[in-house]
Amino acid sequence: MKRKDFLKLSSASAMLFGLKSHGIGLSDSQKKYDYLENDSQYMGDFAAPKINKVRVAFIGVGARGSGHAKQIAAIEGTEVVGICDLYEDLAEKSSYICQEIGNGKRHKNIAIYSGSDNKWRGMLNDIKPDAVFISTNWDNHAPMAIETMKSGAHAFVEVPMATTIKDLWDIVNTSEKTRKHCMMMENVNYGRDELMYLNMCRKGVIGEFLHAEAAYIHELRFQMKEENRGTGSWRTHHYAKSKGNLYPTHGLGPVAQYMNLARGDDNFNSLVSYSTPALGRKLYAEKNYDSQHKWNKLNYSNGDMNTSLIKTNLGRTIMIQWDETSPRPYTRHNLIQGTKGVLAGFPTRVALENGVEGITKDHHSWVQGKNLKKLYEKYDHPLNKRLELLIEKMGGRNHVGHGGMDFVMRYRIIECLRKGEPLDQNVYEGCFWSAVTPLSANSIANNGEPQEFPDFTRGNWKKTKALKIIS
Ligand SMILES: NC(=O)c1ccc[n+]([C@@H]2O[C@H](COP(=O)([O-])OP(=O)(O)OC[C@H]3O[C@@H](n4cnc5c(N)ncnc54)[C@H](O)[C@@H]3O)[C@@H](O)[C@H]2O)c1
Repeated sequence: MKRKDFLKLSSASAMLFGLKSHGIGLSDSQKKYDYLENDSQYMGDFAAPKINKVRVAFIGVGARGSGHAKQIAAIEGTEVVGICDLYEDLAEKSSYICQEIGNGKRHKNIAIYSGSDNKWRGMLNDIKPDAVFISTNWDNHAPMAIETMKSGAHAFVEVPMATTIKDLWDIVNTSEKTRKHCMMMENVNYGRDELMYLNMCRKGVIGEFLHAEAAYIHELRFQMKEENRGTGSWRTHHYAKSKGNLYPTHGLGPVAQYMNLARGDDNFNSLVSYSTPALGRKLYAEKNYDSQHKWNKLNYSNGDMNTSLIKTNLGRTIMIQWDETSPRPYTRHNLIQGTKGVLAGFPTRVALENGVEGITKDHHSWVQGKNLKKLYEKYDHPLNKRLELLIEKMGGRNHVGHGGMDFVMRYRIIECLRKGEPLDQNVYEGCFWSAVTPLSANSIANNGEPQEFPDFTRGNWKKTKALKIIS
């Protein structure tokens, strides 16, 4: 299908989608999609005009969004202008914290929106923010990101970007037409080890890439205690209604950037997937809730552990696993194998064919624990070094979110917007990484049949620059 025809079809389906889910009139949605076709722009290395003071709004300030609000308010060059949550107390609490941080100088006029599902639309229209941070339940990400961009703001969306291929395409099309960023905020790419491994990969330390392993194995059954509001109240339903790998991006994002996927060298090609039986949630519900409780009425049909295998255009492989139910320590695997060695996570360890001077002779033993100091000294990412002082000022790595990665990500977002530079993660990367969920579901439904990745870049990944080592 030609790009022109595709865009028409996609716009039409987006209009239908708008009609179906939000009850908006056809003429409204037609107006919103009434962009000049040749106005669309490839967003791979897109840099938006500089914004000196970034006027920021938040949709969803629950467990995750409240952290975004608190830290974004503390970063130089931001002005918090709006906060929306279903729950007034949450919106008020975040507003109060931001005002405290502003210390009478910033964040003095924060508009609060709460009380019903669609208040965020009013916020976008009334206050016209520059950037909107979306940290709601998964099903809300796509409509909120799309409307955010249409309202003239850049969208920053929590993981995953969206849960269906159609929504991912609608996000890409809207970003290209509005020329607004839509970044899925994959914080793990900003972890200290992940940034160091990116640096080592760029320096050729492990040679040519062959294979990676990624995961989100995190036992989260306790979230079911949040029965009426909070993460468990919506996420628990996904173990019943959804299929496949429901949370692929924390593991996949970093290894995809090590491998330069969708950025010049190589791209996502296809995926096969299988899941285990679904047992753990049912057992947990039976053990902890009475037989009439809503958690005992769900049919937990999504297998406890999902294992998918991605093949890239160059024939490299990525094994990606997901399990939020089984008793087991946390891991994201974070492994990349090259022709000269391997970098791995959980625990952090490195093995190189020629060894690491003074520590290992060859690849038959790991450099790990205290011995990693030498590698951090040599390969720590310059961004980590640059921001270390700021992180210390904010209370140290244990106080700025997931060992520092949250702060580094938020800081980079604001920095890029203020300098008018491309973001570290483009809209296509967020879509490729999130596409694992619907593709794994399709593969499982078809007895492990390979599923082709849509090329969200329409071939433009070949001219997209690798993410450079930002200093
Ligand atoms: N990157 C990370 O490390 C990380 C960590 C935790 C959660 N997350 C992601 O963050 C997102 C939010 O998760 P959470 O754990 O904070 O959930 P949560 O339930 O605690 O917070 C979601 C908030 O969104 C609000 N909300 C929902 N619909 C809304 C609407 N129509 N209008 C306004 N507000 C609305 C809810 O009231 C709630 O306060 C999810 O996508 C999750 O995957 C990411």
